[in-house]
Amino acid sequence: MLEKIKKLKNQALKEIKKSKVLKELQALETKYLGRKGELTGILRNLKDLAKEQKPLVGKLANEVKSEIEQAVSDLKFELTGQGKTEGEHFLDITLPGQKAETGHLHPITIVKQQLMDVFTKMGFMVIEGPELESEYYNFEALNIPATHPARDTMDTFYIKDKPGWVMRTHTSNQQVRALEKYGAPLRAVFPGRVFRYEATDAAHETTFYHLEGLMIDKNISIANLIAVLRAMLKGIFKRDVPVRLRPGYFPFVEPGFEVDVTCLLCQGRGCPVCKHSGWVEMIGAGLVHPKVLAAGGLDPKEWSGFAFGMGLNRLAMMKYGITDIRLFLSGDLRFLKQF
Ligand code: PHE
Repeated sequence: MLEKIKKLKNQALKEIKKSKVLKELQALETKYLGRKGELTGILRNLKDLAKEQKPLVGKLANEVKSEIEQAVSDLKFELTGQGKTEGEHFLDITLPGQKAETGHLHPITIVKQQLMDVFTKMGFMVIEGPELESEYYNFEALNIPATHPARDTMDTFYIKDKPGWVMRTHTSNQQVRALEKYGAPLRAVFPGRVFRYEATDAAHETTFYHLEGLMIDKNISIANLIAVLRAMLKGIFKRDVPVRLRPGYFPFVEPGFEVDVTCLLCQGRGCPVCKHSGWVEMIGAGLVHPKVLAAGGLDPKEWSGFAFGMGLNRLAMMKYGITDIRLFLSGDLRFLKQF
C-alpha cells in the first residue's frame, strides 16, 4: 500500500509539472484530489486496514495529499499570471523603472513668466483682473463711449443675462481699475486672457492672451515707453530687437502708436508671416489719454504716463517660430510636447 501511494505521488507530480494550461491542471486536480480520486479513496477506506497499517498509510496519504495540493496551487498561481505582480520571483529589479509622466508649462505661460521676470525687475507690479468685465471699465473709462466706432473693431461676447457686461476685449480694462486702487505713481503690468468676436484663421483666435503695461508718474514721455519696450524685448529674445513706431489710433492714448518688431522668423528679410514686409505688428501703445487719467481720479495736469498692450500669442509665435495661432488652444500633445 505504501509503495502504491508513493508511486501515485510521483505520477501526480510529474503530470502536474507537465501541464501548460489551466484546464489541464484543473483536470489533474480532480483526478488526484477529487472525491472520486484514488487518494481520496485510500483515505476513505483507512478504516478497513489492519490496525498497525492504519497510522502509517494514513500519515503518508495525508502528506502526499498536501504535497499535491501545494503543487497544484503553485502552478495555478503561475498560470493565472498572479505571480507576475505578486510573486517575488517575477520581480526583475534590474529592469528600468516606469517613469511617471510629469507635465510642463504651456508656451504662453513660459513667455508670460519671462515677461513677469523682466517687469518685476524694473519695479512693475503684476495685477490680474476680471475676464468678465463691465462695459464701463472695458470701454467707457477708456474714452470709448457706446456710440464710438472703436467698439465695432473690438466686438466681443456680451452676456445675455447680465446686460452691460462683456468678456473683456483687452487687458486695458485694468488701467482705470488699477488707478482707482493704487493711485499714482504707478508701475504695473496686467497679464490675462481676452476675447474677441473673430473669424478664426492662422492669425486670429476668439480667445488669446494679452499683456498690458501702465506707467504713471511725472513727466513721462515716449522715450520712457520705448526704453521699457526695448528692455522687455531684450529680456524675451535675449538680444536687441529693432522696433519701429507708426502712428496708431486707440481712443485711450494720445498720441498712439503701433509698435512693429523685426520679424524674427525671417530676420526681417520678408516671409509669409510678416507678409513680406520684414516687420510684425505686435504692440499697441501710447501716452495715457487725459480722460483716462481723470477717470482714474488723477489730475492730468499733474500726472502723465504711457500704456502698451500686446498679444502674448504673437510674441510666443515669434519666439518659437509657430505659424498658426490656433495651435495654442488645440490641446494637441504633438504640439505641446515640443516646449
Ligand atoms: N488695448 C489695445 C488693443 O487691444 C492695445 C493698447 C494698450 C494700445 C494700451 C494702447 C495702449 O490692441
